[in-house]
Amino acid sequence: MICEGRVAVVTGAGRGLGRAHALELARQGARVVVNDLGAEVDGSGRSGGPAGEVVDEIRAAGGEAVANGDDVADWAGAEHLVATAVDAYGRLDVLVNNAGILRDRMLVSTSEEEWDAVVRVHLRGHFCPTRHAAAHWRDRSKAGDDIDARVVNTSSGAGLLGSVGQAAYSAAKAGIAALTLVEAVELGRYGATANAIAPAARTRMTEAVFADTMAAPEDGFDAMAPDNVSPLVAWLASADSAGVTGRVFEVEAGKISVADGWRHGPEVDRGQRWDPEEVGAAVRDLLAKAPDPDPVYGAS
Ligand SMILES: NC(=O)c1ccc[n+]([C@@H]2O[C@H](COP(=O)([O-])OP(=O)(O)OC[C@H]3O[C@@H](n4cnc5c(N)ncnc54)[C@H](O)[C@@H]3O)[C@@H](O)[C@H]2O)c1
Repeated sequence: MICEGRVAVVTGAGRGLGRAHALELARQGARVVVNDLGAEVDGSGRSGGPAGEVVDEIRAAGGEAVANGDDVADWAGAEHLVATAVDAYGRLDVLVNNAGILRDRMLVSTSEEEWDAVVRVHLRGHFCPTRHAAAHWRDRSKAGDDIDARVVNTSSGAGLLGSVGQAAYSAAKAGIAALTLVEAVELGRYGATANAIAPAARTRMTEAVFADTMAAPEDGFDAMAPDNVSPLVAWLASADSAGVTGRVFEVEAGKISVADGWRHGPEVDRGQRWDPEEVGAAVRDLLAKAPDPDPVYGAS
């Protein structure tokens, strides 16, 4: 029970990875706000739809949960989402930003609407709940409360290395990795950590594209089951992860790795403005000294 007594919000928790995170957090003793789109919530915190089913599952197992149907990328909705945790359980300790959508398309065919929809749900949908959670932690911190809070964001291998056919998604997920770095520093002063995961699992988001590689085996370890990702999320949500912040973890099946991100590389300093004709040789020399980037997913 590594999350005993903690209060967590999980966004997009009606299905897939978010559902698995909500169930694991509850198993580990957290009281959970299960967010997903469109859940009409009654006075007891129950609702229909996928979020309501997850709430029922948690309660049936003896845990505590309420549903929330707000759109995470809506400013007022995200404020209401954080307020749902405070109203139900008195405070918020853990925000797991997980909600997401795909609109896969080659860049040349991507419409304005597709670009905006993906960037909105992922990037704005991470910013809005975190912004309201941060205000909650700052207010409590100023009031003298001891805060030990967590933000767990959801990036993707697409955001770390790039992915063909997923320009908007890769850009949004890279933005989430960078957002995590800033959150770690800025929220640290109020007692909150911020980390991100880059998961891989069989969900409705991936099962059509990776039907063969992600299929469940007849017996043995179901490597691509979404609940393989959740133990790391539960640990990052727990008090035990204190001091771990500003990190991105790749997580899939039984594997956890620390993503070794952008860092300053080989450098040349001319001490004065460059002559454009000399830039080429200098840059090629730097590239010869720098490691090659890992390949973009889907590049042949
Ligand atoms: N499945 C993978 O292999 C994989 C890989 C990398 C990253 N991810 C990321 O993991 C997260 C979860 O994805 P998943 O695979 O479980 O997909 P999923 O489609 O099963 O679940 C996503 C959930 O988010 C909800 N959602 C969408 N927009 C929302 C909004 N505006 N407000 C509230 N909820 C909203 C959906 O209704 C859905 O229930 C996403 O951020 C995704 O990009 C998944």
